[in-house]
Amino acid sequence: MITSNAAGEPDPVRGGAFYDAPQVLERYLRHRHSGTRSPNHVMEEPALFDELGPVSGLRVLDLGCGDAAIGRTLLASGCRGYLGIDGSAEMVRAATATLQGTPGRVERMDIEAFSAPPHTFDLIVSRLALHYVEDLDPVLAACRRALAPGGRLLVTVVHPVITSHETPRGAKEARTDWVVDDYFDTGPRRRDWMGDTVTWYHRTVEDYVTALTRARFAVTALRECAPRHDRLDGDPAEFARRRRVPLFLLLAGSIMGA
Ligand SMILES: C[S@@+](CC[C@H](N)C(=O)[O-])C[C@H]1O[C@@H](n2cnc3c(N)ncnc32)[C@H](O)[C@@H]1O
Repeated sequence: MITSNAAGEPDPVRGGAFYDAPQVLERYLRHRHSGTRSPNHVMEEPALFDELGPVSGLRVLDLGCGDAAIGRTLLASGCRGYLGIDGSAEMVRAATATLQGTPGRVERMDIEAFSAPPHTFDLIVSRLALHYVEDLDPVLAACRRALAPGGRLLVTVVHPVITSHETPRGAKEARTDWVVDDYFDTGPRRRDWMGDTVTWYHRTVEDYVTALTRARFAVTALRECAPRHDRLDGDPAEFARRRRVPLFLLLAGSIMGA
């Protein structure tokens, strides 16, 4: 259903359905897998791999799995099972292709609809998907329930200094300035992203930490994903540019109590 705001403009598409538009999907996957040009490769992934630890024997759930590239990596590293869920039919198609020939599985499902019996997973990862979710509390509670004793949650999101405010700019220019504004006005933001408009949910860093502790996770890591020089093929100008502003926030939690 297409809805509209008070000015009569159509609301941007939310969450998974956004990635079903062919031009968005193609552009996102090209950007995501562009090696040293991708901030995921230079900033988010190294911090994530630092925090991942050994995965051998683990049953892994991936919320908002996209094309499930990490699923192949985790299965190759010995995880016992991998289930990716994603709300986009096109991403599920891409993930199915990625996981072909492996025991990994993918299901089309909204993150908000996820639930699983207690002790189903040992590790839940979610990369750059939870800022599409309006209400984190039920999602984190479902994660908490689905994890086995000793289970862990590893999440990355677009950093709150980036979700707070959008600075209009020419599409082709590399960004040279960033504005942080309306930081404590949390809630939806219309965001021009991958050539279309989507809704992200802005939260403060404190909101993310509080949501995790409210769901009875002990926060074991908070990382701001500084760029890694070794992931940039020694390009000093790009390294300096990437050191200017945080793009990603990583949080890790382990379950507290029974
Ligand atoms: C930025 S992409 C990240 C994909 C993947 N985790 C990665 O790191 O490449 C965000 C993904 O989350 C999915 N997504 C966003 N909101 C969702 C929701 N509410 N339920 C299920 N999937 C959602 C999108 O379809 C998309 O595949």
